Amino acid sequence: MTLEQLRHSPEQLRTRIAEELDRARSRSARLTDIDREDLVRQHSPLMSPLVWDYAHIGNQEELWLVRDVGGREPVREDIDNLYDAFQHKRSDRPSLPLLGPDEAGAYVAEVRRKALEVLERTPLEGRRLTEAGFAFGMIVQHEQQHVETMLATHQLRVGAPILDAPPPPPTGPAADRTEVYVPGGMFLMGTDLEPWALDNERPAHAVGVDSFWIDTDPVTNAQYAAFIDAGGYDDERWWTPAGWAHKNTAGLTAPQFWHREDGVWWRTRFGHVEEVPPHEAVQHVCWFEADAYARWAGKRLPTEAEWEKAARYDPATGRSLRYPWGDEDPTPEHANLGGVYLQPAPVGAYPKGTSPLGVRGLIGDVWEWTSSDFTPYPGFAMFPYPEYSEVFFGPEYKVLRGGSWAADQSAVRATFRNWDYPIRRQIFSGFRCARDARDADV
Ligand SMILES: [Fe+2]
Repeated sequence: MTLEQLRHSPEQLRTRIAEELDRARSRSARLTDIDREDLVRQHSPLMSPLVWDYAHIGNQEELWLVRDVGGREPVREDIDNLYDAFQHKRSDRPSLPLLGPDEAGAYVAEVRRKALEVLERTPLEGRRLTEAGFAFGMIVQHEQQHVETMLATHQLRVGAPILDAPPPPPTGPAADRTEVYVPGGMFLMGTDLEPWALDNERPAHAVGVDSFWIDTDPVTNAQYAAFIDAGGYDDERWWTPAGWAHKNTAGLTAPQFWHREDGVWWRTRFGHVEEVPPHEAVQHVCWFEADAYARWAGKRLPTEAEWEKAARYDPATGRSLRYPWGDEDPTPEHANLGGVYLQPAPVGAYPKGTSPLGVRGLIGDVWEWTSSDFTPYPGFAMFPYPEYSEVFFGPEYKVLRGGSWAADQSAVRATFRNWDYPIRRQIFSGFRCARDARDADV
């Protein structure tokens, strides 16, 4: 059942929340069940030591669930400042007097015990913060987002592999066409209905877009390699001035973690060196690279509104769906989520995840860069704290949509908005292209 359906069955809703908390913890515990050395070391100045993420997860849970929702005494008020992401840059975090691995493990376990007691006693209605379990859902999503961040840290770690996974499912039937036509007109963007949607996804509002074409599948490694082979990184025409400058300064010549030997592309993935699979969505590209590829291909990145219309709009009813496949929660048949395979699947591997218009692979596999800056929707109201979204609104950040293979289903919806700097590429980011439709297309 969906959260909306569980809203009026408090016991079932509590059971579901406890399961979601547990699933998040089993993932974060797995990623921190490693050598102490690897836990406390900073694997990249872009990332926190894993032991910081772990205790920070517990500290956020303590602040919101134990202290605010539960009204209980603090567990470790003395460490609040250490684990406040706004007080210390990631690069500075290793020099802080952080909890050690054992202390961090004991702390998060104690906070979780208390949070579950609070869950048992809290009415899940009557107060906005706890309505339909919102605060618990926010904390579930927070932990799952840090799981994805911790996977990015693991990917940056150098040394023998310590994470393994089965191979992803094989590709499904090829698409009959490489692009899908999306008719112009209004559709409902954002949500008022999703109980655990975050403030930046609200409110639902009508948005008009002109008709456009969007790629059926995300851009694959083979397609991206063709851009490299065509000299795409050496041709200023394809890049914005800022993108060209960044590419030169950073020395970008291919997606992060790729290298070429005797004309063959290889990649390093969680310590495994393997040939780049041609039919997977490309990942570890920054916004500037995605934007340049699109221009080389004679296209552009979709706007955020275009992406959401392609994902949710059902032309038969005019409704916007929760997910491309409908209103049903994700199952393993719909999308590559939850870090099961530690990589994207080949495009077309999830035919059941196709949108009503025929667009595939929108949820899971890779976060998709859009052309849009991260801005508030009309009628945006900050909730429950400005540091969730509000302080990030503005032109420095680009929006990514759809979730990656590393994202959990609790933290992905067709309305879910992620954002990052246009230079970021240690995240599991890819893209698909779009183009304007001409009258003759209609
Ligand atoms: Fe956080």
